[in-house]
Amino acid sequence: MMEGVIGIFDSGVGGLTVAKEVFSRLPYEDTVYLGDTARLPYGNKSEETVRRFALECLGFLSRFDLKLVVVACNTASSVAMDVLQEKSPVPIVGVVNSGALGAVETTKTKQVGVIGTKTTIASRAYFDAIHRLDDSATVFERACPLFVPLVEEGWYADEVAYLIAKRYLDPLLDRGIDTLVLGCTHYPLLKPVIREVMGSGVKLIDSAYQAAVEVEQILKEQGELSPKRKESSGRLFFVTDIPHDFNKVACTFLDQEHIDVQLAEIEGLEL
Ligand code: DGL
Repeated sequence: MMEGVIGIFDSGVGGLTVAKEVFSRLPYEDTVYLGDTARLPYGNKSEETVRRFALECLGFLSRFDLKLVVVACNTASSVAMDVLQEKSPVPIVGVVNSGALGAVETTKTKQVGVIGTKTTIASRAYFDAIHRLDDSATVFERACPLFVPLVEEGWYADEVAYLIAKRYLDPLLDRGIDTLVLGCTHYPLLKPVIREVMGSGVKLIDSAYQAAVEVEQILKEQGELSPKRKESSGRLFFVTDIPHDFNKVACTFLDQEHIDVQLAEIEGLEL
């Protein structure tokens, strides 16, 4: 049994971009990843449903000896942080707060753009989180629902991606933002295309990277960082369904050749 584990959950494979950042920043930590692949996408579901699903994900992870939980899914992090924090006995890091902090620390003009799923943008969670940190910032938000299937299809670096990105992002460009938050697990893979559309004057904030920085900070403060050791750390991966092409898509997100996953039953597992 692993002790003092970091639990990470997402609606599916996208959260592996967050896991990857945690692995590279904190290579000696044991981790358990849960992707709710049977019920994704979360990004166009109602807030009530996403909150219920998120609580079940936490319920599953809580079977492990957790020291911290990362809500890797921007949509869940947008609409369920309050209930998750209420129920969780350990600290919870949500990508939305991490991304908002990164944006406020980066912007010079205080004109910030945020892109995400429909549910994330409708929740205004990024808007609120940025304003809590700096109420003089102006926030422009835009849902980009086609980005998720585009990335999962593997079309994140070609002309189709460019055309779709241009259609979604041109209005933000017109607003004169200097910082753009990539508020969805899948968007780090679209970075080159988004950079091409936005130009070098706009800084891209990767919520996945920002979340890993915050995880390290909290564990350091609490004296809970795992000591360096020779053997590789334990990394478990669970999903609620193994869809076609799962391995291929998951490996793209994680940037590794193979991933061993186990099936998890999580329905009804609320804490
Ligand atoms: N993981 C979701 C997010 O970051 C994207 C995929 C989905 O809609 O489930 O918002």
